[in-house]
Amino acid sequence: MDALVAAALAARARAHAPYSRFAVGAAIRDEHGAIHAGCNVENAAYPQGTCAEAGAIAAMVLAGGRRIAEVVVAGAGLCTPCGGCRQKLREFSSGNTRVRMVDEAGSERLVRTLDELLPDSFGPENLGA
Ligand code: THU
Repeated sequence: MDALVAAALAARARAHAPYSRFAVGAAIRDEHGAIHAGCNVENAAYPQGTCAEAGAIAAMVLAGGRRIAEVVVAGAGLCTPCGGCRQKLREFSSGNTRVRMVDEAGSERLVRTLDELLPDSFGPENLGA
């Protein structure tokens, strides 16, 4: 098992998901090779919960990373990033950034590029940024 998968699984083990009981972990490798992880954090006021990917992105930005080289999402069975998280990942990714989805054992279920997950996406370039 590679380090990114291990980080996603370790993050998944820390998930706070008492309402859905669906634990998710995400791990990002940034442009420096550093790994940042996050888990889903649900809330009694349901819409206030946050996804694992959002936590991993926040950790990356705090640590100084600004580009996503690769992502692993670990859920139960096949867990693909939600629409909102695809857009959040897109902010720091290129079209060919690889997103690997693994199950609770770390076995690969699906591999997609960011472009495949979010085609014709809107991003910083559209704002001239
Ligand atoms: N969830 C994530 O954290 N990431 C995903 O990629 C899909 C869904 C979370 C949100 C919620 O806490 C739970 O999984 C069930 O939707």
